[in-house]
Formats: sequence, C-alpha cells, structure tokens
Amino acid sequence: MKKVTSSANANIALVKYWGKEDSIYNIPKVPSLSMTLDGLGTRTEVETSSSDELTIDNYPASKEAYNKYINFLNKARLLYDFKDKIKANTRNNIPYAAGLASSASSFAAMAAGINKLLNLGLDQKAVSALARLGSASAARSMFTGFAALEKEFAYGLVAHKNLKIMMTIVLVSKEKKALSSTKAMKITQNTSPLYQDFYEESFENFLRAKEALKTGDFPLLGKTMELSTIKMHASMGSSKPQIDFLQPLSLEVIKYIYKLREELGNIAYFTADAGPNIKILHEIQNKDIILNYIKINFPNIDITQSYPGIGAQCE
Ligand code: PMV
Repeated sequence: MKKVTSSANANIALVKYWGKEDSIYNIPKVPSLSMTLDGLGTRTEVETSSSDELTIDNYPASKEAYNKYINFLNKARLLYDFKDKIKANTRNNIPYAAGLASSASSFAAMAAGINKLLNLGLDQKAVSALARLGSASAARSMFTGFAALEKEFAYGLVAHKNLKIMMTIVLVSKEKKALSSTKAMKITQNTSPLYQDFYEESFENFLRAKEALKTGDFPLLGKTMELSTIKMHASMGSSKPQIDFLQPLSLEVIKYIYKLREELGNIAYFTADAGPNIKILHEIQNKDIILNYIKINFPNIDITQSYPGIGAQCE
C-alpha cells in the first residue's frame, strides 16, 4: 500500500487570529500573519487503510487528539470528495522545552501528505485550506518564512531582504493548557466587551505588519505584534468567565522585555498565545544578547531559539 511521508514546522502569529466566523470549517474572523519556526515541527506518515488510525510519537493518540483527527478527516472527505480511511503516524520533533502546541504543524504535515497520497492535485494555497479544517493556524505552516491567513486560505509573504529576524521562546510552564483555543475563542467572542475592539484593530494591525515586513521595519513589526497580543489577551481577560492564559511569571518576563527596551532601545518585542509561554521577536544579530539577558534574569527557565523555517514538504 502507498505511504507518504511529510513534514511541517510550527508557526507563531505576529498578528493574531482569535475568533471564528465559521466554527465547523475553522474560518477565522480576522486576518493573521505568522513566522514559521525552523526545526520545530512534525513528521507524519500517511497511508490508506481499512480504518482511520492515529499514533503520535509511536503511541495510540489520546481520545481528544483522535476525535480531532476524525473530525478533520470527515470534513476533508466531504469537501474533497474521497472515501479513503487514513492511517497516520506522527512524530513531533518539537522539544518539550519549546512548549509549543503541535496542532499547527501536525495538520499542515497531514494535509500535505494526504494531498499527495490521494492525488488530490491541490496547490499549496489549496492545501492550506485543507490544513485549516484541522486547525486554522495550521494553514500558515504550509509556507516558508512568513505567511498570512485570510478567511479560507493562507499564502506566503516575502520579507525585505534586510529584515533578518528570529524568535526566542521562553518556557514559562510545561503544563498542558486547561482550555482549548476553540473553547476559549467561543467564550471570548460571545462574552467579551473588548472583542469588537480586537476585531476592528486586527485588520489595521494586519496591514501594518504586512507593510513592515515588506519594508523591513523591525520596530513597527514588533510593536504591531505586541499590540495584537495585548488586545487579544485583554479581550480574553474581559470575557465571562474570565480567561487568563498568562501566569505571573509570563508577566515578569514581559516586564523584563520592556526593561530591556528602556536600556538598549527597540531590540525585542514579545508575544504569547493560548498559553503562558513568551516568544520574543528580535533581529538575528541580537541572538546572544537576548539569550543571555533571559538566562541571567530567569536562570531556571528553559529557552529555545528558532529562525524562520520552511513550509510543509513531502518526501
Ligand atoms: O488554530 P488554533 O485553534 O490553534 O488557534 C490559534 C490561536 C493563537 O495561537 C492564539 C493565535 C494564532 O493566530 O496562532
């Protein structure tokens, strides 16, 4: 039986997606923009089989992961008109210390693999829409370097040649998040008085970040990323029940990034997603300064650094 091996890296949003226009097909309410992370992702083998099966790192998937997988496959079978059952074996090479969710890289790798396995003939943009059925942010992992996601599709973005940036990931906590991003988004959309503000500003932030990427304006890109992050977390924080993914230690790390900017200028900006970990965006030339600064001030925290990485690939 035919087997396809594919891989994809995780990505971090610089302009955040939060809220769904369609919760069945994962159509985002707002546009988002991301950086794909080098070397932090998933490798997947897919093959047709008599039943849908999923193993993660050589173990049968948890009920939760399996249900997500079946849900993805059922939607894919309906929209892309195939009947095959798929057996998938995924391996994450995201070190524990990176503290990143693997759903974006998993569904991106899976979508790329299924496209090839079943000869669906989809181009990269169309495969991003298939990946989106599993997790909206997965659509962005199809692309190398930087990507945008608007409604159904993601597409690649080219950064200015002088914009040489990367991320330092600060692992505040290794605990699994208590609330899924899907549930958290729904609560925020339905109850937060600040969601409308986040929603409206997201379109401006998206255009501003796109322009900053194109012109190579690092401080503008960083500032826009922080604004999008703060507005997203503020909308969650003002929802009922209140959602707070950040921990006291996350806030402490953020405080130190402000302090670093006071001391050395606009060299580092933070972001955080549906979890407590802090990701710092900075220029590659400041790689060691950022690493040492965090190490000195937070000696017990794990840190991972990552360059912009490649999009999903099939072997
Ligand atoms: O695609 P999901 O369901 O994993 O949601 C991602 C949400 C954020 O990571 C918080 C923002 C983003 O754009 O990636």
